[in-house]
Amino acid sequence: MDRTVITGGIPLRGEVQISGAKNATLPIFASTILGGGECVITNVPRVVDVLTMGKLLGILGAKVHHEGSRALINADVITSTQAPYDLVKTMRASVLVLGPLLARWGEATVSMPGGCAIGSRPVNLHLAGLAKMGAEVSMEHGYIRAKAKRLTGAQIYCDTPTVTGTENLMMAASLARGTTVIENAAKEPEIVDLANFLVKRGARIAGAGSDVITIEGVRELHESDHDIIPDRIETGTYLVAGAITRGAVTLNRCCPNHLDALLMKLREAGVEMQVEKERIRLNAASRLKGIDIRTLPYPGFPTDMQAQMVALMTIADGMSVITETVFESRFMHVEELRRMGAEIKVEGNRAVVAGPTRLAGAPVMASDLRASAGLVLAGLAAEGTTEILRVYHLDRGYERMEEKLRGLGAMITRHKEGAAPAETR
Ligand code: UD1
Repeated sequence: MDRTVITGGIPLRGEVQISGAKNATLPIFASTILGGGECVITNVPRVVDVLTMGKLLGILGAKVHHEGSRALINADVITSTQAPYDLVKTMRASVLVLGPLLARWGEATVSMPGGCAIGSRPVNLHLAGLAKMGAEVSMEHGYIRAKAKRLTGAQIYCDTPTVTGTENLMMAASLARGTTVIENAAKEPEIVDLANFLVKRGARIAGAGSDVITIEGVRELHESDHDIIPDRIETGTYLVAGAITRGAVTLNRCCPNHLDALLMKLREAGVEMQVEKERIRLNAASRLKGIDIRTLPYPGFPTDMQAQMVALMTIADGMSVITETVFESRFMHVEELRRMGAEIKVEGNRAVVAGPTRLAGAPVMASDLRASAGLVLAGLAAEGTTEILRVYHLDRGYERMEEKLRGLGAMITRHKEGAAPAETR
């Protein structure tokens, strides 16, 4: 199993280029199924989850070709409407093919995603929305089966804003007969990016980015090119890398507009930054102070930055309370941070961090993608050597992370030992 070894304590300096957003690429790839012709997608991050989605499209019969950060996808012909367990178990976002398959090909069979390290993560809202649009949905032998001659527009209310749920329903509604309104929709920038792509292909969508999205179904979608938005979570992770090592880093080709909550919270903690249209410069900070954070759906503070902020708060002065409201058990990194000397107590959905601590390098185990990022950041700040096991989680969502960090002066290396296991939940 691969390990990443970090010798910490080096202030990071220099510039880093932000990659395209994984969580925008995944639904955009899935949405190519909605129409024919060749779509050329640029600024595609080469991360394992994106390659997995490409592989899934290939299994369904689409032609997928990667050329560096460009992907060419042609879904003129679909030969299967089944997303198999072996693939879905490695990536929950595979469920994003459900809406597009059903809308264009009248049926879809998608393995039911299981639980994962950060909570139970149901897909009931995806299914309820599709049923409201007239799909016959059933559960058979661990598979979701959905059928509909042609979906019909419906008024859908999501009990909780769900990102991939909103995306699935928006994609399905694009080809439905009549108008669909999704209320209490999620508002993440990745949803807007998907809507922009669909609109370029001929879909009629209004309100993406707000909590009411209206989709007027059309008969068919045509091909289009698209440039993926910058990854806001990768951007945030490198900002914390700069702050936690008391370094000075410049992030290029990012979109600060998508990071309001994080930038405000970092400033509250004492991090100084100059923000330009597509660039953020972070200045070396002397002392940081503990702050309280509550994760929420966008535009609230992103749950995908929670682990990284817990790591940062361990070196800040005073008490910080980090409340996780999106996922039920997303504090797996806390035990590992404690092994590095952090003083953190978890009480229900809150982590109380008492800082500052001098983190000390230790062997630690990564449990999921963002938890792994939190541990890398702690390792960069810690005295001595940190060894992170099960680091394959990082490859799911960070493009060339070790290489980018080395470019900023970090001492970080990957030690390969055999092949990474397929099971990555
Ligand atoms: C997406 C992101 C993930 C991020 C998360 C929250 C992708 C590929 N992944 O995941 O990185 O951490 O948003 O910002 O974009 N829920 C239900 N029923 C449903 C669906 C969701 O109860 O049918 C609940 C979930 O349990 C959770 C909350 O809604 O408590 C939000 O989850 P959701 O937005 O759906 O997360 P994902 O789309 O899976």
